[in-house]
Amino acid sequence: MRIFQHVTDLGDLHTALAEAAEVKRDRFQWQHLGKNKTALLIFFNNSLRTRLSTQKAAMNLGMNVIVLDVNQGAWKLETERGVIMDGDKSEHLLEAIPVMGSYCDIIGVRSFARFESRKDDYEEKILQQFIKYSGRPVFFMESATVHPLQAFADLITIKEDWKGNSRPKVVMTWAPHPKSLPQAVPNSFAEWMLAADVDFVVTHPEGYELDPQFVKGAQVEYDQMKAFEGADFVYAKNWSCPGVTRPEDYGKVLHDYHTMMDWCVSSRQMAVTNNAGFLHCLPVRRNMIVTDDVIESPRSLVIPEAANREISAEVVLKRMLESL
Ligand code: CP
Repeated sequence: MRIFQHVTDLGDLHTALAEAAEVKRDRFQWQHLGKNKTALLIFFNNSLRTRLSTQKAAMNLGMNVIVLDVNQGAWKLETERGVIMDGDKSEHLLEAIPVMGSYCDIIGVRSFARFESRKDDYEEKILQQFIKYSGRPVFFMESATVHPLQAFADLITIKEDWKGNSRPKVVMTWAPHPKSLPQAVPNSFAEWMLAADVDFVVTHPEGYELDPQFVKGAQVEYDQMKAFEGADFVYAKNWSCPGVTRPEDYGKVLHDYHTMMDWCVSSRQMAVTNNAGFLHCLPVRRNMIVTDDVIESPRSLVIPEAANREISAEVVLKRMLESL
């Protein structure tokens, strides 16, 4: 595997899930693969889970790990070609990327949506440059539009928890937030659920329609309570306007969140589910996205879900090491 961005990069999903279970049984059995190999993890944005779980996964595989916080201690990077660099940016990404590539065998990059240009964000301008100029396999640790390590961990968690014989009903719900957040997590979750053996429903207020490249084929229900009926899993997440129908609204928060608090996941909505498991990628703002009682309930899966980030990262790194 040279790139990990989409669910299709993993090939057969059943095989990948079986591999995740095998990793979980003994996560140290492939230490020989990573011997004398280096993973470079580059963060343009903050992280707790991705940073720790990916480092742990690399160490499980016997790798050396270098972590770079681009905005803390590195030269400030110019990303646009053709710019006269007489400002505060001392280095261009076009030199920095191949230099970084020369110090490692595999690169992971976190670079969120900038909300300056929908086109640049949805074309993955930063990550594509790493793919083109680093000369190394590149995995996405949350980019402008996707968060595949999270979605893989989400699917592993659903598979582990689901005890039924038929396909579970999985509902992804928009929830309020005071800030403008990217669509990477809901995009990837939708992409992965549509590829998995689940019945997938998305619910959000009108105006927050996700890009069809990720959500095409999903059932969209604007009535949140109706969507929750009989749900086996509820995935809560905020996202800003994806700008699908009105590009000028890309990245905007369309309503004052005070008027949207009915969308906060509480026992009112959970009561109509099939004792649904509650998922969120974390970090989560309590009593905005989800109430204290729901996230603290026995059906809250957020901690095992975060723990499975180590497993999803290990499967991806293992696949990349095997293809070096
Ligand atoms: N879920 C997730 O990616 O967490 P971090 O932002 O803390 O890495």
